[in-house]
Amino acid sequence: MTELLTFPSGFAWGAATAAYQVEGAWNEGGKGESIWDRFCHTPGHIAGGDTGDVACDHYHRYLADVQLMQALGLNAYRFSISWPRVLPNGRGPANPAGLDFYERLVDALLAAGIQPFITLYHWDLPQALQDLGGWGNRDMAFWFRDYADLLSRRLGDRARHWITHNEPWVAAFVGHCFGEHAPGVRDLGLALRASHHLLLSHGLALEPLRRNGGLATKAGIALNLYPGHPASDRAADEAATARCDGWFNRWFLDPLFRGSYPEDMLDLYGEHAPEPAARDLKLIAQPLDFLGVNYYLRHVCRAGGADDFLNVGFAHPAGEYTTMGWEVYPPGLYEILERLHREYGVQSLYVTENGAAFADEPDVDGQISDVRREAYLREHLLQAHRAIAAGIPLHGYFAWSLLDNFEWSFGYTQRFGLVRVDFGTQARTIKQSGRWYAQVARENGVRP
Ligand code: FCB
Repeated sequence: MTELLTFPSGFAWGAATAAYQVEGAWNEGGKGESIWDRFCHTPGHIAGGDTGDVACDHYHRYLADVQLMQALGLNAYRFSISWPRVLPNGRGPANPAGLDFYERLVDALLAAGIQPFITLYHWDLPQALQDLGGWGNRDMAFWFRDYADLLSRRLGDRARHWITHNEPWVAAFVGHCFGEHAPGVRDLGLALRASHHLLLSHGLALEPLRRNGGLATKAGIALNLYPGHPASDRAADEAATARCDGWFNRWFLDPLFRGSYPEDMLDLYGEHAPEPAARDLKLIAQPLDFLGVNYYLRHVCRAGGADDFLNVGFAHPAGEYTTMGWEVYPPGLYEILERLHREYGVQSLYVTENGAAFADEPDVDGQISDVRREAYLREHLLQAHRAIAAGIPLHGYFAWSLLDNFEWSFGYTQRFGLVRVDFGTQARTIKQSGRWYAQVARENGVRP
């Protein structure tokens, strides 16, 4: 057997999910409607007409799912709160049954020795707030602060790790510029305003999170980040790579870690660029306890055509691809972590998502030999180990996902789980990758 490459003691071995993707129970227990309920219930948005109405039925099966986490050897679990489950109208009176659900989940995790990492916003905005303009409305930032206050007053004594937002780039652009996610709008100016209000809401939420949780609180945000490589050494491809980096990465990293939006992007966005109020960027750039990195793929960029947003085209070099059409590129994880530490001075990092969709099916014995997912996770963990060896402060890793689940506009066509879910019966089966990951967690190390 090859040598075991060990991780620092206390390293978080986790898996991640999001409320809308796993909970189901969309209209039970006093829950309000979310923009994802509305979006999925409107025909034509989701592959196969799928919805998250039932999803993995985790709302009813959470105790069994915590047992699965134990079987996987996890010491951390990242999940999100459904805002309309706890505040059916987004603000105003709380729903006691919703708060109770998350309290029971957190208590079950703690009893199992699993640290909760709570994401406040993983895209399922209360529809009632969308009706007031959603993320295009500056008031949203303050409603989000109040929501963070409510949750941390209830759970801040037990849950240490809080993630304000998941992938604000996706919420802003895929939801408001490309219309492929809820609320399904196509308006660049609105998307950029939404991105600013998402960031502002993050900054405003830090105060109640820290006040309610005390000194032990660790508050951060999870960004989808991509190393960018030019498709050729042509100057035009290099310029496209810089625009792509500004669009996806720097538009969020610069305000969070430098207190300013990148000049080149403000110029490119021109009249569509948001106009922050005086103190906004100070609030956004308050020190974070950690940055969460969601890493799946790199961008290989070329100068695009007039139809391409910002004239950025994406090349698809030969290599391995997942069923999402995403290139498997493990060194990119090291590249992005190294850059965050060197260029932005980030002092504490977690990989808050990393994983792969493959169409694995059970064999005749019901076993799922998902060797490609196992290899994907191993190769990325080796890059994580390489980063730690280089002195980069990486403190944990969360596989996406604990369970096969509802993959947004792709419906149930994409399986990311360490655990297979039969969506007809809700039966769960730990895949080979899950058994392998359990050993990694148990040994606190990975073998090349
Ligand atoms: C990320 C999302 C997560 C999941 C994975 C595959 O962008 O945060 O909910 O859909 O992609």
